[in-house]
Amino acid sequence: MAENDGMRSLRPTLRVNGVPVWQELLSPQAQQEAVSAVLEVAETAPFVVPVTPSGRPMSVGMTSAGSVGWITDRGGYRYETRHPSGVLWPPIPEAILAIWRKASGVARPPSSCLINLYREGARMGLHQDKDEGDLTWPVVSVSLGDAALFRVGGTERKGRTESLWLNSGDVAVLSGETRLAYHGIDRIRAGSSSLVPGGGRINLTMRVVAGY
Ligand code: SIN
Ligand code: FE2
Repeated sequence: MAENDGMRSLRPTLRVNGVPVWQELLSPQAQQEAVSAVLEVAETAPFVVPVTPSGRPMSVGMTSAGSVGWITDRGGYRYETRHPSGVLWPPIPEAILAIWRKASGVARPPSSCLINLYREGARMGLHQDKDEGDLTWPVVSVSLGDAALFRVGGTERKGRTESLWLNSGDVAVLSGETRLAYHGIDRIRAGSSSLVPGGGRINLTMRVVAGY
């Protein structure tokens, strides 16, 4: 992997079970720009409430930007080139690509940006990000809006976990030995931020997907 000289030279402010977190890497203005960019993506590719392969509705709203987007439905977990409505995913906005350049440590751009919307009561169970086909690239995760309790385990489901409250502007990176770490969001602290219109939290995860 080619390294670049972005902000990656800054040391992470802490690690949660080995996963580096750069707290408040994004200025308030950069956070605002990222949220505006997400809202623009959602005009073309609206948030949907996905169902798991077993048919259970998830508690988050989801959409994507980029050449491919991650989806789940009765057909399984996978990447698709189109939103469920049939439209192509919009390109990843520049304000969001800039965060990847700062945090990923790699020179190539991401293929995909998954956008999760957590309103009050939403959560995300422990899982691995493993549908990308090529697991040598980092996953860059950006928190915007309400604080969220992030739980990180090891590469096996039963491993010990550690938790950390992620705040708006924090960036975590899953790469190398932690690329396949189990992770999830236990809960959000509703009302802790006013950044997201309508309240809640937006999480962005940028990924490289094989072939895209
Ligand atoms: C995810 O793993 O897809 C989301 C993680 C987060 O919301 O911080
Ligand atoms: Fe994930």
